[in-house]
Amino acid sequence: MSEVVVNRCDFSVGQSIGGGYRVDQVLGEGSFGKVFRVTGRDASVYALKLLKLWEIVPELRKPLMARFVMEFETGRIRSRFLVHSVAHGVESGNPFIVMEFCPKGNLVQYMERHSVDLAKAGREILCGLHDLHKNGKVHRDLKPENVLIREDGTAALTDFGICGDRNKRMTERNILGRPQQLFGTYAYMPPEQVNRVRGDATVLPTTDIFSFGVMMYQLLTGKLPFGELNDHNDLVVYQRNGKQGHWDRNLLMRSAGGSEWEEVIAGCLVPDFKQRLQSAAAVLQRMPKGRSLAAEPFLSVTEPFGAAPVPFASGTGMLLRVMQGWEYGRVYDLNRLLPRGKRLLTIGRDDWNNIRIPEEEGAYVSRRHCTIEADAHANRWFIRDGQWVTDGTKGYWKPSANGTYVNATPVTQAGCELHVGDIITLGEVTFRVENKKE
Ligand SMILES: Nc1ncnc2c1ncn2[C@@H]1O[C@H](COP(=O)(O)OP(=O)(O)O)[C@@H](O)[C@H]1O
Ligand SMILES: [Mg+2]
Repeated sequence: MSEVVVNRCDFSVGQSIGGGYRVDQVLGEGSFGKVFRVTGRDASVYALKLLKLWEIVPELRKPLMARFVMEFETGRIRSRFLVHSVAHGVESGNPFIVMEFCPKGNLVQYMERHSVDLAKAGREILCGLHDLHKNGKVHRDLKPENVLIREDGTAALTDFGICGDRNKRMTERNILGRPQQLFGTYAYMPPEQVNRVRGDATVLPTTDIFSFGVMMYQLLTGKLPFGELNDHNDLVVYQRNGKQGHWDRNLLMRSAGGSEWEEVIAGCLVPDFKQRLQSAAAVLQRMPKGRSLAAEPFLSVTEPFGAAPVPFASGTGMLLRVMQGWEYGRVYDLNRLLPRGKRLLTIGRDDWNNIRIPEEEGAYVSRRHCTIEADAHANRWFIRDGQWVTDGTKGYWKPSANGTYVNATPVTQAGCELHVGDIITLGEVTFRVENKKE
């Protein structure tokens, strides 16, 4: 196959991108992309994010493209609290995403000019996180610059590109010489994302919950919770404080309204992700009321995980759709994979599993990770962590190293029943359980 030609392209005001988008203004420039305000052929204003593929070493282009596609798709989730993707295209070999334009800029810019009701903004951000998590996505790069403000003042999340460790490394390699940006990324990371130790490697909603705590602390107090972050030495201290749960509680209490936030922030900044507040909905329940007492239409949180399990329609089957991970978008039809006359399917890293999960880097999925059991007659499905192993004449149950999670709750060897819409997480991979329509 021939190499795709990727050419350098830089745009100034008045020029046109992708044939139909006229540049009005440069809105932002990050490590991989540049964001413009543009006017489309329909005379509407959009934001256009161009991936500067020409600046990227060729071996990183493919994973970055995959990440960009995922970013576009995440913006297609219907939620009032996520910046919406409108279209995509390619300019001189460099891909771009067209999205809704948020005229009030990001949360940092907005706070410079307006007095902001942080309780309201915080609740909107949590609703955005909830909508992502419900769809099997973890943001992993939540920070004030990635929260945009619409004309009506609502907050919406953006920049859905980061996918855990491999991209963290990619980021480091690509932004050498721009240390400020690197530290900025580290400021919000939970300890389990910094030190990927065995047993902690699963990427769960709690990653975003920690970042939410850091971000709200910073917006309330003007400082980061674990100390200054100006150079490499600071970073070492900062990460140690994060791991030990040492944050400056007094500063929060001295800030306006700070005492109302203490419970929320403390619940988010717990170093052990298993002890942290577990979901956006759980954080939302503890949020201060803020200025506006009127009921706000936070309808998207009316369906918390597992509230009303949706059974499979009889005579159909189960699909597993990869929502996050290397095989993003792939769909497994479990009835087809189930060997004739058998009830058990295995998922893991080794070849002989019915569903084999490839990982680009790392080994967060075990060789034998989990087992799915079908009651084909009743069309009910169950999942257990680990697999049965026979070793010579003896057999035993072997659990996975990092655990299996359904809707962010750990599954044991005893297992649990699966329902339509459930999110299964193994390592960095998530699946959504879907009903196959006959
Ligand atoms: N849809 C948008 N509307 C208005 N401003 C935007 C939009 N998207 C991005 N921006 C501006 O560009 C900045 C960078 O965008 P982002 O998607 O976070 O890219 P990066 O990957 O470079 O961080 C944002 O912080 C914001 O200021
Ligand atoms: Mg960003």
